[in-house]
Amino acid sequence: MESRLEDIRIGFYKKQLDVTNFSIENRNISKVLNHFFEDLIYRAKSKNGKYSPQDVISSDELLSSALSYIDQHRDFYQQKSDVANLRDFFFSSSMVGKVTNFNPVIARKIFERYVPFHGATIFDYSCGFGSRMLGALSSKFNYNYIGVEPYDELYQRLLIFLSWITRTLSIQSESCLYNLGSEIFIPDLVGKIDLSFSSPPYFNYETYTNSSTQSYIRYPKYYEWLENFVVETVKNIYVYTKKGGLHLVNLEDTKKIRLIDDWIKIALAIGFSLEQVEEIRTRRRTTNKNCNKLLVFKKK
Ligand SMILES: C[S@@+](CC[C@H](N)C(=O)[O-])C[C@H]1O[C@@H](n2cnc3c(N)ncnc32)[C@H](O)[C@@H]1O
Repeated sequence: MESRLEDIRIGFYKKQLDVTNFSIENRNISKVLNHFFEDLIYRAKSKNGKYSPQDVISSDELLSSALSYIDQHRDFYQQKSDVANLRDFFFSSSMVGKVTNFNPVIARKIFERYVPFHGATIFDYSCGFGSRMLGALSSKFNYNYIGVEPYDELYQRLLIFLSWITRTLSIQSESCLYNLGSEIFIPDLVGKIDLSFSSPPYFNYETYTNSSTQSYIRYPKYYEWLENFVVETVKNIYVYTKKGGLHLVNLEDTKKIRLIDDWIKIALAIGFSLEQVEEIRTRRRTTNKNCNKLLVFKKK
């Protein structure tokens, strides 16, 4: 299994990507992330559905109702195996709120489009399930990747993933991870960052763990969360960013919050200028009508 994953990873590294669009040219690469992170992804839950994938797997009753639903909708569920159909069900059914994970191909395209030079330092202010790390460290530009992730178990897994990534290609990069929330100031990063990019938590839309380090648990009211999490995070990023450097964020509004406008107001007030707003079109659930925006800010 590991050697097959290494082949996929090396293939991704060798592939030249067309950075003028965000289409996903290499779908195999998600197998790598699934291998390292799927159990943690399955434990997390989004407000898109009632149960997490893990809730379904651990309950005989829920699992059999999922399997019989798949059986009755064979025209829709046409994957090669039951397991693959179940994975599809987790993504598409309104019964299950599977959390999304940013696509590593799109992440790498974003980095190569916005910092197309050797040795740039990238800051990921919410690592999540490894997709931006994989994208950054699979580029010929030999980026340095710095990330923060407060969820302990996920942080430990990211360390294992980082060492696997560097071992499979024996790349030289000054990458490191911090087991911290992005609102905590890290003096070592001041003036070091060429580009920051993440897909941060959308307040309480997705729940990953019950730990008090999670931003929406620490600040349970939206406006309090904006003040203490988003403002402090963007202020830190501003200070970490080199003059002329970029701050990127992938956001989505939900039924209840207008995070895109709020993030823009905060970033402008802190001193960034808004350079561009792009749309990222990916496969979406039928229950979710919102659209992802990539905001691009600059420190002038
Ligand atoms: C990457 S974000 C959102 C994932 C998004 N659904 C996507 O498409 O990529 C998820 C991560 O934010 C992390 N997180 C929670 N509180 C945080 C904080 N205070 N600072 C930084 N990251 C945090 C969670 O632990 C989780 O791993």
